[in-house]
Amino acid sequence: MIRKKIIAGNWKMNKTTTETKTLVLAIKDKLGKFDQVEVVICPPFTALQTAQEALGSHSDVALGAQNLHQAAGGAYTGEISAAMLRDLFCRYVILGHSERRQYFAESDALVNEKARVALKSNLRPIICVGETLAEREAGHMATVVTAQTKGSCAGFSKEDWNNVVIAYEPVWAIGTGKTATPAQAQEVHALIRKTIKQITGKPIADKLRIQYGGSVKPDNARELLNQPDIDGALVGGASLDAESFVAIIKNSVAT
Ligand code: 13P
Repeated sequence: MIRKKIIAGNWKMNKTTTETKTLVLAIKDKLGKFDQVEVVICPPFTALQTAQEALGSHSDVALGAQNLHQAAGGAYTGEISAAMLRDLFCRYVILGHSERRQYFAESDALVNEKARVALKSNLRPIICVGETLAEREAGHMATVVTAQTKGSCAGFSKEDWNNVVIAYEPVWAIGTGKTATPAQAQEVHALIRKTIKQITGKPIADKLRIQYGGSVKPDNARELLNQPDIDGALVGGASLDAESFVAIIKNSVAT
């Protein structure tokens, strides 16, 4: 099964509009015409429009957001709806990132609700799962990742699955410089695919793209992305610099 790789940049709470314009133009310039992998950038809400304008209407780079609110609209001060993101030409939305689970108490049930809203609104969710260091050291990695995967992805239709991406991000590897080894990452990716296979069957599990995230850099991208069940990367820090982000994209193609 050939799955087109997907490399997404999660900018987190970084970049003003001026910085966004500079970064997007530099990414476009360094990337050139390159359609071997799918590329997504996820700036903060405040920079989505600037990013979209800098990408232009014919760009190969897709736009994503980092979160949404599950309600269609109304009295939710400070929140952003799926329709607002579609209005800004977002195609993807990151959901259930460990920082949202940790700092904003997002549960699997809430992530699932948001994912269903995203899918109904024509937004493709990138659903994040991953264990903490304490959970791994206690031998609970498989239980935690399986429960998060099942809980966050409950009730999707066959059509929905065509538009879902899962990102495995071990919490202990995020922003720490500690990457999972390719073998460690592959083990968990295979577990996630097996879990999805049990829920939906082999054809959907075989098509599903599963990204790895956690200290992905140009020099470790190739080996990680050569693993059979690793179909892309969700890149934090290294996506804030055009040179390193584009190097990861180019290194993700098997040679
Ligand atoms: P880093 O690449 O900075 O470790 O962040 C990973 C991440 O959280 C992407 O969503």
